[in-house]
Amino acid sequence: MVVLISGSGTNLQAIIDACIANKINGQVCAVISNKAGVYGLERANNANIATHVLNHKDFDTRENYDKSLVDIIDKYQPKVVVLAGFMRILTAGFVSHYAGKLINVHPSLLPKYQGLDTHQRAIDAKDQEHGCSVHFVTEELDGGPVILQAKVPVFEDDDIDSLSQRVHYQEHQIYPMVVKWMCEDRLTMTQKSNTFSALLDNVILPEQGYANDD
Ligand code: GAR
Repeated sequence: MVVLISGSGTNLQAIIDACIANKINGQVCAVISNKAGVYGLERANNANIATHVLNHKDFDTRENYDKSLVDIIDKYQPKVVVLAGFMRILTAGFVSHYAGKLINVHPSLLPKYQGLDTHQRAIDAKDQEHGCSVHFVTEELDGGPVILQAKVPVFEDDDIDSLSQRVHYQEHQIYPMVVKWMCEDRLTMTQKSNTFSALLDNVILPEQGYANDD
């Protein structure tokens, strides 16, 4: 798989660790960041994984950036492209090129709180539960079908730090699990008119993903 990051790369680390422990039948062949100097690149170096920095500021358009990104990714012929804190909106061309192979982790119980500042929004709304979602990526920002979610409680004295830490911990549990399923060819995405679905072992998953409450 190829992993795209923009920051500290704790999810990348969880995936690398799961590969090393043979929990995932696969390996990370490259890590690409749109920012130089981020700690996720050091994590990749420490694991002897090839790294690339593709700075979006060097490109005049989003389309040109994403084309160069595709060129780098496709050299590795990955089975899975993993977005792990890659903080960029992707073009329709990029998303369709990797349809069914492109997954993302998002820090909310989607479809709640697409976009940014998810932890603050959950606190402001006085939500009693919050969490994270792993989903296939479609053109709609944070709108692709959910594969797996994990919930955490929100406590009255929570701030962004305490809540994001709790959510992060769960991301590190569920993301490697989904990557494992991807590497085993157990996950697919289908589309009927404008509706996308995620399937595990050819069975359509409910909207909340595999671990739904029903
Ligand atoms: C994670 O919390 C992930 O859910 C979030 O960025 C963080 C990256 O952390 N992604 C998004 O907000 C994407 N919309 P990490 O660099 O430590 O893995």
